[in-house]
Amino acid sequence: MNQAGHGLARLLTRAVRRYLVGPDQRWVFEPPPPGWRPPRLERTSLYLHVPFCRHGCPYCPYTKVPYRPELVEPFTRAALAEVDWWADAVGPAEITSVYIGGGTPTLALDSVARVLRRVRQRFRLTGDICIETNPADVNEETVRRLHSAGVALVSLGVQSFLPRNLALLGRRYDPPAAERALALLAQGGFASVNVDIMFALPGQTADEVTADLARAAQLGADQLTTYPLFTFPYTSVGQYLRLTEVRMPDLRARRAQYRAIDGWCAEHGFQRVSVWGFKRDAVPRYSSVTRDGYIGVGPGAGSHLPDGFVLNTFDLDTWIRAMGSGHSAVALRMPFAGEMAGWWWLYWRFYDTRILLDDLEAALGGDAPKARRWLRAVEQAGLAARHDGNLELTEPGAFWLHLAQNHFALNYVNTLWTEARRQPWPQAVAI
Ligand SMILES: C[S@@+](CC[C@H](N)C(=O)[O-])C[C@H]1O[C@@H](n2cnc3c(N)ncnc32)[C@H](O)[C@@H]1O
Repeated sequence: MNQAGHGLARLLTRAVRRYLVGPDQRWVFEPPPPGWRPPRLERTSLYLHVPFCRHGCPYCPYTKVPYRPELVEPFTRAALAEVDWWADAVGPAEITSVYIGGGTPTLALDSVARVLRRVRQRFRLTGDICIETNPADVNEETVRRLHSAGVALVSLGVQSFLPRNLALLGRRYDPPAAERALALLAQGGFASVNVDIMFALPGQTADEVTADLARAAQLGADQLTTYPLFTFPYTSVGQYLRLTEVRMPDLRARRAQYRAIDGWCAEHGFQRVSVWGFKRDAVPRYSSVTRDGYIGVGPGAGSHLPDGFVLNTFDLDTWIRAMGSGHSAVALRMPFAGEMAGWWWLYWRFYDTRILLDDLEAALGGDAPKARRWLRAVEQAGLAARHDGNLELTEPGAFWLHLAQNHFALNYVNTLWTEARRQPWPQAVAI
């Protein structure tokens, strides 16, 4: 899309979001007021961000720093202090899931285990623990330590089993190493092993993508998450390409490959669980972003609270200093107005590709009739169909609705993260 197309599309989404959520919602992240504290919580999830990577991948948009062993202890102390900060503020809530992302969290497994112990001491942990890892970082010892930390679900960032694609992405392992890592995890006794595979890479064909899925399934993956390659302006490739907007993958390649992935998964016993994810029956679902609420620990970690979103400072040193002095690390906050929390819930049900219609009233209150009208239009357009009280996106629906949603979500993320990376305590950021 050219600049004018982007401008037009942005105006259109702004009109839609204003119509749906209402004029009271301000789409601005601001520094929280002095002395701000989150509300008390009965139940939530927890996200731990471990920002270390041995090598930065040129396309990766997440907050990370090169791994240096001497950074791990200050990181751990700050993470322990932040768990305490949240527990003091929100109370001894039930934690229904823990997601540990990065970076490469398995580079600091002792640290992760200590933070998890503190989470168990300060909260009531009832849910599963999920962690991300990298093929270059998995061996027998990793598997043993993951179990002893109580981790049940693991996600391996394979991206591709083809040397050409790994080289293109700057991944520093070869296909046999990725295969060994996956086999170790698959035979390692976890409740579920997810594999991330990328598609719509330059020069990649639909057959290459389905061959990657087949290899992952053959080696024992329980879940397959497929991401098209997005290029963020502030990543190394984005800067090289002088981008100002998130570059979406080529539409035609993306459409053909999306269809091939959907068909391959349906044929091989993997059911769709989100716009990008497919899992085998009877294994628990691995997911990072669809939780109803979570508190975030770590530099750049976000929290989804009942009354708004908050985002920690992205800068590792600033975050460590804030936690060391007992202050909050929250740099930006967007409070919810009206039924914003309910619309956000509905956004993620679209991501799940499945909406239980009976839940609409509880989630959206007075806005439920408006949501029902809107969902009816989606259904009439053939983008969704009813099954047992659920509204399920059809294959074209999953593709097209997500394409639009994705485009704007990524541009919001880009606006917010660009500013949050530029300075540790940013001023207001309008999204
Ligand atoms: C935080 S990353 C996992 C990092 C893990 N340390 C690794 O190296 O595999 C989670 C997943 O996001 C996906 N991802 C990261 N950057 C992406 C981008 N620019 N476009 C599409 N997917 C991306 C990758 O599939 C990656 O496995």
